Amino acid sequence: MNAEIVVLPSPAAVAEALADRTARALRAALDAQPRVTLCLTGGSTPAPAYERLGGAEDVDWGRVHVFWGDERCVPKDHPESNYALAKRTLLDRAGIPDSNVHRMPGECPPDEGAVIYEQALAQFFGDEVRFDVLHLGMGDDGHTASLFPGSPALSETGRRVVHTTAPASAAVRDRLTLTFPVLDGARLCLVAAHGEAKRPAFGDVLDAYDGETDGPPIAYVAPKGALVWLVDRTLSQGTADD
Ligand code: 6PG
Repeated sequence: MNAEIVVLPSPAAVAEALADRTARALRAALDAQPRVTLCLTGGSTPAPAYERLGGAEDVDWGRVHVFWGDERCVPKDHPESNYALAKRTLLDRAGIPDSNVHRMPGECPPDEGAVIYEQALAQFFGDEVRFDVLHLGMGDDGHTASLFPGSPALSETGRRVVHTTAPASAAVRDRLTLTFPVLDGARLCLVAAHGEAKRPAFGDVLDAYDGETDGPPIAYVAPKGALVWLVDRTLSQGTADD
């Protein structure tokens, strides 16, 4: 796997790098296209990055369309909603028009919500979904989006959006998630992760990149464009890239 791994000194530096690299990539894409697409992640890692990104200079947010890689099956104002996270940190601060916000319908029955989002992607992209910028995170178990270890969704190649179930420890178990073929269409995939709890999974990813093991779900993300990991030192200490 041809991944660039950037080791940063702190979680704050990871957030800054995620925001700044995203803003730079969006500006470059906007120079060449009438509209661009940004696919957001959820969880806690992106919040400070999205607050910084929302204040980025010289991004024509009126031409940026926002999607999600996954969503918890909850109402859009629920504290666990990935949309709610983005709305309070990025969408409102950047002034992204509602017509540019393509929210996963977490409030719907999950299988119905998956079909609705599948239709929304087809209407916007047509045959091939290609995000200009894709954000991903990584769970302690190496999941990404809501593609969890052992899930049948890991081998899904037909559908673009599926209903998955998070482990029992998750606050919200029913999820909607994009599948690998969609994630792999990204022109630039930025993976942001930090914290000691994720170090074993990150080590497994590096072993998978070296061909030594199969690796956790995120090791299977193979974007057509660039793949850049933004990690902090606690994550990379003791791994091959330290
Ligand atoms: C979600 C995310 C998920 C997240 C990881 C890491 O909906 O939770 O899409 O894939 O990126 O679970 O979460 P943290 O950033 O909270 O560690």
